[in-house]
Order: sequence, then structure tokens, then C-alpha cells
Amino acid sequence: NAQLIEEAKATLINNDLGGYTVPTHGLYPFQWNWDSAIVALGWLPFDEPRAWEETTSLLSAQWQTGMVPHVVFHQQSDTYFPGPDIWGVKNELDSTSITQPPVLASVIKILYEETKDRALADSQIKTIIPQLIHSHLWWYKHRDPENTGLVVSYHPWESGMDNSPAWDDALEAVPCIDWEYTRRDTSHIDASERPHKKEYDRFLYLVDFFRKMNFDDTLIYQDCPYRVNDVSIISILHRATKDLLWLCEKTGVDNEQTEYLKERLNLTASAMNKLWCAKTNMFHSFDTRSNSLCQARTSAGLLPFFAGLVNEQQATPLISVLDNWLEHSQFAISSTHPEDPNYEPQRYWRGPIWLHVNWMIMLGLKDYGFSTQAERITDGSRACIYASGFNESFHAETGARSGGADFSWTAAMGLYWLL
Ligand code: DGY
Repeated sequence: NAQLIEEAKATLINNDLGGYTVPTHGLYPFQWNWDSAIVALGWLPFDEPRAWEETTSLLSAQWQTGMVPHVVFHQQSDTYFPGPDIWGVKNELDSTSITQPPVLASVIKILYEETKDRALADSQIKTIIPQLIHSHLWWYKHRDPENTGLVVSYHPWESGMDNSPAWDDALEAVPCIDWEYTRRDTSHIDASERPHKKEYDRFLYLVDFFRKMNFDDTLIYQDCPYRVNDVSIISILHRATKDLLWLCEKTGVDNEQTEYLKERLNLTASAMNKLWCAKTNMFHSFDTRSNSLCQARTSAGLLPFFAGLVNEQQATPLISVLDNWLEHSQFAISSTHPEDPNYEPQRYWRGPIWLHVNWMIMLGLKDYGFSTQAERITDGSRACIYASGFNESFHAETGARSGGADFSWTAAMGLYWLL
């Protein structure tokens, strides 16, 4: 392990561009939202100030509305498309106009609990808590303006699970962009491991649409052709709100805003049944445009464990689904169920194993007392690293590299699991 731990640290240090860590050079040359949150966990055991800095540099790009953007373009790079000119955001710090799963508050709770430098943690948390509250209020008010209990997402990139089959039908209903463009991702990574052009055409249509709407949350909510209750975002937000309220309690923050967040937790808990499918015995995302439950069986449907949103009747059947899932691989949970017709073991979010998703599911299982499954996922995740190192993701059946190499969040998860 000692050598792997050193390699994991070296991966983070090599991807550090000064205050923020790129996911990997070339393919993703900027600061990504949920990558950075996970990466802070990797810095924690060997450089605490750097761990905090990762989170504060991300929050420095927070919009006035409260939204924390999905990518922060701290500097120019021509190895990535679509860059700041295509997004058209005119803020002090260039960024995209969408967000990503808000795992940050859950990470901050871990930093706060595990710190060895209490004075540093106490001083950081004072600035960070109001920023997190602002972000969570934005989520509930702007992404669930009708108080349904389930926030919506406007772009598959917001889920971070870009080409997951979960929303194939929802995405198909989006028009294609009508101008030519040159992708950069397929010059770094083989096209067989990346989304298809038909998906990119729609990803870009949405980017254009946000700009045409002048990034106005109300207009976008009304007219966006893609509007999905994404079960992964809903689960991660729910857990993060609980963790934020825990931080507020520890630091004596108790006001109207924290009361509002508590009400929102109750609202989500009572709305979750809408995402449960009695046929597959698991959770799915919901397409609010066609008013139907998304069909594919993806690992996002296990994330309600992380949120504590699985009720007593659902826990046993959902565990059977998970047990069956794990029987297909000596490694960990693949992003799409191996028996799902859309499963592709090497293609980005349509099959490969992602360690940070396994980590979240594992934490949820521990909370529910499913320790055998939690240990199995931990062992399987370590096995991925032993098989091929710190890759973006792992081929679901062989554990081989899938996507980029020398990847920051996998190194961070490695430090978490190997130390
Ligand atoms: C990409 O460009 O592939 C990213 O996943 C967008 O966040």
C-alpha cells in the first residue's frame, strides 16, 4: 500500500494548479465542482490547509443567486470544449451556467470532524457556512419553485453522470444544436469510452438555450426542454442539507434559514415515493417533461441509502437488487446494472465503476447497518485501484482503466481507502 499511497499523493500534487485541482490534465483542465469536493478529502490527511483551500476556491465562484457552478474556468485552456466563450457567462470568474451534485457540505462536515487543526477549521467554517446555506437555499427555491419536494436538473452534465442511460428518452426530446463544432474529449480518450455525437448535439443545444434565456432561473424552469428529477442530485442534496444543518448546530447557527432547510428535508422525504419503482425494486429519476419515471437501472438508484431516504419497506428489496448487482463483478458497483439492456461496461456512465459513487453508497449502507455489503464495496473499490491505478473510472468487468488516467478524485478515494 505504501507505494500506492505515495502515488495517490503525487497524483493530487501533479494535478494541483495552485488552490484548485484539475480532475486530470488535458481532458478536464479546469476546476470541476463535485470533483473538487471529493478531492478535498484526498488533501485532508496530508495537507489540511490545502484541503480547505480546495473548497474555498470553488466557493469563490459562487453566483450571486447562490449557485455554485459546475466548472470554474480559472485560466485559459484550448484542450477542452465547450470553453467559456460558448457558455457566455460574464461573471468576475468565468464559469459554466449550470451546477453539479452538491456533495460539498458533506465533505466539509468530514473536514470539520476529522481536522487536526481545530483553529484552522473553526476559522474556515465561519465563512463557509453562510456560503453553503446560500447555495442550499438556491437549490430548493430555484430548482423546486413549486415546492414538490424534488429539485430538478436542466442538463445531464449537472448530474455529473453525463451519458447515463437514465435519461436517454428525456435527452432524445431535446433538439440538436444547429452549428458545427469540434469535440476535444475524443482527442484525449478513445471514442468508445465517451458519449456519442447525438448526445453532444443535445448537450450543446442546452448550453445555448441557457445563454439565450440570459441564465434566468424562472425562464429556464418554465421552458427548458430537459427537466429531470435526478435521483442522484436529490439524494446528495438531501444528505448534504442534513450535514449542513449538523454543522450549523455545532457552530450555533440557528435562524429562519436553518428552519426552512429543515422543512425542505421533510418535504423531500414525503415526495420520494414518486421515484420508487415497484417493478425494478429500486429508485429511478423522473422526467418532468413527459411525466414518466426513467427506465434504466443505474447506480444513482442506490444513492437514497446515502441520503437516508430508503424506508423500511424499500430497504430489503433494494438490498436484494444490490446483492444481485454485485454478483456480476469481482469489483464494485457498475454505473448501470449489468442486466440492463443499456449496459456498456466501458462507456463512461453507461457501465464503468466510479469510486466516489461507490463511496457514497457504502457510507449509506453503513448508516443502515448493511455492513457486509459496505465491506464488499470497499474491497471491490480497492480491487479497482490494485487492478489499474488511479483512473477516472474502471471497466465494469475487468477493472481496467476507463476514461482518463491520473485522476484526482480516484486518487482522493484511494487515500481514503488505502490509508
Ligand atoms: C465533459 O465535458 O465531459 C464533462 O463531463 C462536463 O462536465
